[in-house]
Amino acid sequence: MQYNFDEIINRRHTQSSKWDNVGARVGNSDALPMWVADTDFRCPQPVVDVVKARAEHAVYGYPFVVPEFRTATTNWVKKRHGWEIDPNWVVFATGIVPVFNTMVQAFTRPGDEVIIQRPVYHPFGYAIEDNDRVISDNSLIYRDGRYTVDFEDLERRAANSKAKLFFLCNPHNPVGRVWTGEELRKMAEICLKHQIIMISDEIHSDLVLFGHRHIPISSLDERYQMNTVTCYAPSKTFNIAGLRGSGIVVPNPEIRKKLEAQFKRNRSIQQNVFAVPAYVAAYEECEDYLEQLLPYLEDNATYLEQFLKSHMPKIKLVAPEATYLMWLDCSETGLSGDALAHFFVQESKVAVSRGDGFGPQGADFVRLNIGCPRTTLEEGLQQILEQYRKQF
Ligand SMILES: Cc1ncc(COP(=O)(O)O)c(C=O)c1O
Repeated sequence: MQYNFDEIINRRHTQSSKWDNVGARVGNSDALPMWVADTDFRCPQPVVDVVKARAEHAVYGYPFVVPEFRTATTNWVKKRHGWEIDPNWVVFATGIVPVFNTMVQAFTRPGDEVIIQRPVYHPFGYAIEDNDRVISDNSLIYRDGRYTVDFEDLERRAANSKAKLFFLCNPHNPVGRVWTGEELRKMAEICLKHQIIMISDEIHSDLVLFGHRHIPISSLDERYQMNTVTCYAPSKTFNIAGLRGSGIVVPNPEIRKKLEAQFKRNRSIQQNVFAVPAYVAAYEECEDYLEQLLPYLEDNATYLEQFLKSHMPKIKLVAPEATYLMWLDCSETGLSGDALAHFFVQESKVAVSRGDGFGPQGADFVRLNIGCPRTTLEEGLQQILEQYRKQF
């Protein structure tokens, strides 16, 4: 089927967090929403069909997780990422964020440390601090416009007996890196050596751009597999985050048992009736959507890069290797933190995500969501340009 990602769909008054909650969340209800990580694209037709059919049934009692959920996950991960998974390893969750909290609760005690790599997806930190655990920040190194891992620092942090878990974001939101096999091996070896369990959040793994290749960290070595909880979901790829379904791959039976027991204690596992049918349809029937989406996102990213180079050279795009979340280095504008947010959200009326929301290292950055029709991107960039010309 042919998809038209240029189609403008009015998302206002649909209880959309991105469009209808932008005032409360970003601070300007008139700003063009380019912040939270969903796309403005219609989701694939097989998903629409299955949701409609389920809705038409008109009985919405308690569902259970059918075995097709597991095989849809294993088939997809094998086909797209080359990792062979036993269906029995796959655990349903109503989202990946709840898994962060559940892992922290199951495998650490108050006061223990959890390693993250800031600037990084902020709910990593919330899961740690909301549970009275301590963030151990293995900050990424930013040099010559590119992010890398500080392995010496990681080793030091992992050696601390208080450290119990490591949250990996691969591909990394917001800096857009797809970690290489070598980088993954080094991180995994450090974690193994110091008995740190890894949580590999691979929610963006389908959205890899410009010839980069996603490698599931667990696919590299059986020892890594036994030490890792890997999180997948069709939610970003197919724009179905509101349906709440994710597949958590836990090859180690001991870890799986503990995770499931904690889910049970929290009574937080129950899915809605649309979650699993949509999940299965997305993974089993919608690869053609992804094949068309990727070049569209690449074109948007290229358009953004050229626009910035030609018209706003003080704002630099950190080379995106994956995701539709673009990380803009604004350090040359001299604006930072509140002043930078003011420039984008209040003056330009473009609702970006503040860079410092991902950690203090992000103060000179903003994250721009280009998962939108080209004309929306053009509109947002024109608004920013108008203000840029006045100020720089
Ligand atoms: C890295 C990462 N993990 C997880 C999520 C969200 O997970 P979920 O909606 O499944 O809870 C996001 C959403 O932006 C994300 O970027």
